[in-house]
Amino acid sequence: MKFIFGIALCSITVNSFAQTKFPYQNPALTIEKRVADLLGRMTVEEKAGQLNQLNGGAFTGPAVNNVGQNEKIKMVQSGAVGSLLNVVGVADTRAIQTEAVKSRLHIPLIFGYDVIHGYKTIFPIPLAEACSWDLEAIEKNSSIAAKEASAAGVHWTFAPMCDVSNDPRWGRVMEGAGEDPYYAGLVSAARVKGFQGNLNDNKHVLACVKHFAAYGLVEAGREYNQVDVSRVMLWNKYLPPYKAAVNAGAATVMNAFSVVDGVPASANKYLVTDVLKNKWGFKGFVVSDWASFGEEINHGYAEDEKDAALKSLQAGSMMDMESKISQKYLPELLKEKKITTQQLDEAAGKILYQKFRLGLFDDPFKFCNEANEKAVMFTAENRAIAKTAAEKSIVLLKNNNNILPLDKNKKVALIGFYANSKPDLFDFWIGQGNSNDAVTVYEGLKSKISNISFCNGYNGDNSSSETLINEAIQNATAADVVVVNIGISGKMAGEDRSLAYPQISDGQIALLKALQKTGKPVVALVSSARPLILTLAEPLVDALVQGWILGTEHGNAVASMLVGDYNPSAKTVMTFPYAIGQIPIYYNHFNTGRPTTTDGLGNWYSRYRDIPNEPLYPFGYGLSYTSYDYSEVKLSSSTITKSATLKVTINVKNTGLMDGEETVQLYIRDYAASVIRPVKELKAFKKIMIKAGETKEVSFSLTKDDLSFYDADGNSIIESGKFSVFVGPNSRDTKKADFILN
Ligand code: NOJ
Repeated sequence: MKFIFGIALCSITVNSFAQTKFPYQNPALTIEKRVADLLGRMTVEEKAGQLNQLNGGAFTGPAVNNVGQNEKIKMVQSGAVGSLLNVVGVADTRAIQTEAVKSRLHIPLIFGYDVIHGYKTIFPIPLAEACSWDLEAIEKNSSIAAKEASAAGVHWTFAPMCDVSNDPRWGRVMEGAGEDPYYAGLVSAARVKGFQGNLNDNKHVLACVKHFAAYGLVEAGREYNQVDVSRVMLWNKYLPPYKAAVNAGAATVMNAFSVVDGVPASANKYLVTDVLKNKWGFKGFVVSDWASFGEEINHGYAEDEKDAALKSLQAGSMMDMESKISQKYLPELLKEKKITTQQLDEAAGKILYQKFRLGLFDDPFKFCNEANEKAVMFTAENRAIAKTAAEKSIVLLKNNNNILPLDKNKKVALIGFYANSKPDLFDFWIGQGNSNDAVTVYEGLKSKISNISFCNGYNGDNSSSETLINEAIQNATAADVVVVNIGISGKMAGEDRSLAYPQISDGQIALLKALQKTGKPVVALVSSARPLILTLAEPLVDALVQGWILGTEHGNAVASMLVGDYNPSAKTVMTFPYAIGQIPIYYNHFNTGRPTTTDGLGNWYSRYRDIPNEPLYPFGYGLSYTSYDYSEVKLSSSTITKSATLKVTINVKNTGLMDGEETVQLYIRDYAASVIRPVKELKAFKKIMIKAGETKEVSFSLTKDDLSFYDADGNSIIESGKFSVFVGPNSRDTKKADFILN
């Protein structure tokens, strides 16, 4: 749905706004001076208007106190709206901006949009992209998304999502960078840099760090559910990625829907003012999530809308996305002296600051160039970058007898509804991408392999039938090798897509069993936007590939990987559980008082009686078509002081026949601390190309920062004692060396 204005474009030109009638219109002044001058001219109502963000297009949340189209336009013209979300495209953004600058002080709107993994050219879902461990590429991918979005009149993306989550039941794990706080921080920072770049060049957009904070902890993986987290866990595990993104210069932050420490995140002064503003020095503005100010009432925290508007502003939250209460009640609250002019000015001023920073006061139509919009969208270059990104995201989980890569001359039976269904390749957050433009696995493989058959094997709802299975058996029998695409539709990914059973369906398992009986080698390709339980599928197949949801170039990337034109190098950034009962599961867990049988505890230790403790595949895991051998770990010293640097060295040999890229991972363990530490914590990694037969020395430097942790108040602490360093190809199969920190 588009914003239909039904109004003629007015003839106001850029020049009429560039004149320096008032100091705030003078580009020669500093932004601080311009904001101060403008605030001095604004009425209380106009200031409150800046805090008002309305939906102008497709709904990405429930309709709340809906405002009709005409009323919305009138509000825009009167300066009662500071921002619109979901209005995209030069034609629409120009039309509505034209109305905005008719307002008394000609204040332009800022247009926000969910550019989560691409605008028109769709990249892999962020979770998959993070499996590349390639920060440079991740930054580049975000810059392409920004280039397309900004050319379509968008000023601001609601990304990156920095929520650490250990729960594949939660549909939104697809939007994040996985379970490790350190790595998610690096990815989030790279994405901020990619989106924002040099904001002055019209090719970038403001980033929005979301959802602040700890939204990834929703209980039982159920969307919008409660969150219960201690301060120690908040500081050590959940806050680091937001902090890294803020440090990278993110212009805005979005509140979470959840409640932290008994207070909804939107009204949580500890999070928004004490931590974000005061401790981290964040200077940008804070936007609510969709209607989250108003939802403080449902949470049982605010009495009514007015109370919610008050509590949100008092906490330090600023822009009101779709609750429609700040603009309505703040002037009244000011009159009643419940809020101060300074509070209102700070919030409005920070929003205005970003508008000045984008150059919108000097040219409100800066991002409105039709020719540019056409030129940069969905280009061959953008698609090539998206294809590389997709290749780098595919995780090879199992490859018995080197069944992969496929011999291009062999006859392949491709089976699986998803392999031939464009709509299922796309999730909810696909910007303006069109699933008709996406390449299916069938299309991709056909371009590489001439002798190929296809059948569905199961239905779009993941069920199967005797007829479908019999057809699959026939095709498999007539082929040399079977590639079967199983998993869950992309449509089941993202917001409001929680699943109690994130697993392979019974229908697909029945299909795999039948295919195994044919005696043909079977390669299973899993499409899903979260790690699924693959425990039943794994023994039924010779090779297992986590193909995620890879965007526009999905099928081309999968095909290139399957035939060996690309040697897989991705490593999963989320643990693959063995069973649903293990969730939440993560590698960086604590030891417990009764960790394993090897501690001599007999029967009485922390375990399940019916399944192993270990996941099916651990964090950091992923195979290649070549193999690597890791030497023992060497440390520059077995004792170091707190100011010293510890050098860690290891040799990695490519023992296979193909050149490959390997991500060498370094973890530490601090054995005794005033706040208990995880059994392993990622602290560094290097992704390197190693030629077949070649050995490369890989070294890391560990410093104070890597060995410290946070106390419950967010103070960074370093304590003496015994540590281990672990280096390896994943979080499980590591080599270890010990040292003492004095
Ligand atoms: C709600 C989602 O939680 C948030 O991530 C998104 O940016 C907004 N809706 C706007 O669509």
